[in-house]
Amino acid sequence: MTTATRDSVGTAHTRVEGRDKVTGAARYAAEVPFAELAHGWLVLSTVARGRVRSVETEAVLAMPGVLAVLHHHNAPRVDTDYVGLLGVPPDLTVALFQHDRVAHRGWPVALVVAETSEQAREAAESLVVHYEEEPHDVAFCAERQTEAYTRDSHAPAVVRKGDLEAQLAASAVVVDAEYTTPEEHHNPMEPHAATARWEGGRLEVVDSNQGTTWVAGELASLFSLDPASVRVRSEHVGGGFGSKGVRAHQVAAVMAATVLQRPVRVVMTRRQMFSLAGYRSPTAQRVRLGADADGRLRALEHQSLNQTSTVYEFVEPGAAASRAMYAADAHHTVNRLVRLDVPSPTWMRAPGEAPGSFALESALDELAERCGIDPIELRVRNEPAAGPVSGLPFSSRNLVACFEEGARRFGWSGRDPRPGARREGRWLIGTGTAAASFPAGVMPSTAAVTAEADGTFTVRINAADIGTGARTALTLVAADALGVPTDRVRVRIGDSDFGPAMIAGGSMGTRSWAWAVTAAAGELRQSLAPGAEIPPEGITVRSDTAEAVGALAQKERHSFGAQFAEVAVDPATGEVRVRRMLGIFAAGRIVNPLTARNQLVGGMIWGISMALHEEAVRDRASGGLYGADLAGYHVAAHADIPHIEADWVDDPDPDDPVGIKGIGEVGMVGAAAAVANAVWHATGVRHRNLPIRPDRVL
Ligand code: MOS
Repeated sequence: MTTATRDSVGTAHTRVEGRDKVTGAARYAAEVPFAELAHGWLVLSTVARGRVRSVETEAVLAMPGVLAVLHHHNAPRVDTDYVGLLGVPPDLTVALFQHDRVAHRGWPVALVVAETSEQAREAAESLVVHYEEEPHDVAFCAERQTEAYTRDSHAPAVVRKGDLEAQLAASAVVVDAEYTTPEEHHNPMEPHAATARWEGGRLEVVDSNQGTTWVAGELASLFSLDPASVRVRSEHVGGGFGSKGVRAHQVAAVMAATVLQRPVRVVMTRRQMFSLAGYRSPTAQRVRLGADADGRLRALEHQSLNQTSTVYEFVEPGAAASRAMYAADAHHTVNRLVRLDVPSPTWMRAPGEAPGSFALESALDELAERCGIDPIELRVRNEPAAGPVSGLPFSSRNLVACFEEGARRFGWSGRDPRPGARREGRWLIGTGTAAASFPAGVMPSTAAVTAEADGTFTVRINAADIGTGARTALTLVAADALGVPTDRVRVRIGDSDFGPAMIAGGSMGTRSWAWAVTAAAGELRQSLAPGAEIPPEGITVRSDTAEAVGALAQKERHSFGAQFAEVAVDPATGEVRVRRMLGIFAAGRIVNPLTARNQLVGGMIWGISMALHEEAVRDRASGGLYGADLAGYHVAAHADIPHIEADWVDDPDPDDPVGIKGIGEVGMVGAAAAVANAVWHATGVRHRNLPIRPDRVL
């Protein structure tokens, strides 16, 4: 590896809880034991739209072990008139059993609670629910009547700069292409699971989520509780990818625990996760690029349409991905949505950027072809000096450095640009590239660091380690700030009683938490006189970064990257094989090169999966999905994944105390486009609809 000379926080460090995880000592949410535990099983609607006419509870209540059946007639009431900690109103899917309306197939209509999980399941599957069915509409396509969305979430609906039509008319070369990406599902390995109980006047929930501050806050709002009386814990999380926020299982568990006054656990099945865990909306996108003959962009237009449910406005902002990428005289980006009788979509790894970069970076490749310019050179020619739309300076922008280093290591310079020119036996060979970017944000967090009497240090921060290695990263950050070896630092996470902190999301977790941990550790170090006695209870310093984070100057803050892929295509079978992949990233100072590389490679694998495999197909007749399981929903498996290399260039964030930017999602961005561009180079055929299935290649 060539990374040794570059500055990082810590050297390669295996996960601090790795041994516990591989020996089974680490307990996931559904494994934490509770005395008197009861089990809830969700019952989901079998119609896609309508009303629940009646629920035949009597027969089920007589079944062995059954304790209760909750539904819209008897469930506790919840309050949905609030704005959550992330600044948005709740997805009304979590307002369980409040009315008789069914908003989509797989809508929760009842919870059966029993002594054992098996009894609950048996009873739930026997429960007869009568519906008044109404016609439904789940058909997503580019031609839908659309609305620009109303809620200003993390990306505005429309951003306009310059006269688009005039610049297109003045362009020597115009690319006008439509792209689609399908509905995609997160499928974290560990299903959603929560146990709720009332203990000493407080509600305690043991859960699997991406942020207990967030989940505790939402539960307090929903159940009209004093936030101080709600404690949520979530220590080990087997993957989240955006799906593990407030969902039906926690609310169901709290309702049942409240009614029965005993601990109740609710676990989603894999199939239920396909209706209740959120998903990435399909997108239909149109990109128009206008350029001079030398490839300089005059016009960049990116429109993206996504679907949402009838009960929640969620936007997959595909067009937002274009706002920071390339200079152009006229810029026009629009995100729209259409409401259908489908489950609510949600954030899924690189929301917006993943599908958006597929369209934009494919269109750039088409423009390079049309102009007869190397795809990397085209991007270099359109590098903006400042935010292309915002005009704000970049905190740092090392995209060109990524392309230069990547091209050198991938062996790009000898490439014959003609498509279909390289053949090895029955295989056509091609290479492709694409740019990656993802916003590098930071959010306020609190952390406490304690100097223990035995010379060790305990860090308490309400971080979530969803499998990324965040706890290990924070151990290295704390050791660095304290100036002690890592084995003297213990990091405790995943407990809302530790105080508010950012969620594991938006690629902002490690950065936001590291900032707070660094601040607290630095102050503690200052306050410890050399040789002074430490009392038995230790000395604790607590810090809150709200002020520091709030004072950050306005800049365009992004991580960047350059993706490279080589594919082999068999034109007789339509089989596409990725043969190798390289990603070079400029993503701030890297914490723990070992797990950082893991995270980036994981993102790139998602990109391959998105390009070639993933697709949830919705049946227009039933409103449900075909193959809502891991047999029917294809994700890249080991045999699909070749040698992948991820590495980085130096790019410390000048405004961050540690220099971090965040690497949670950028590894996925552009990866699908790099594969699609390589397939074009191999075959001469553009694939604008994902996934690039064998039948589409033929
Ligand atoms: Mo991520 S989609 O911000 O969990």
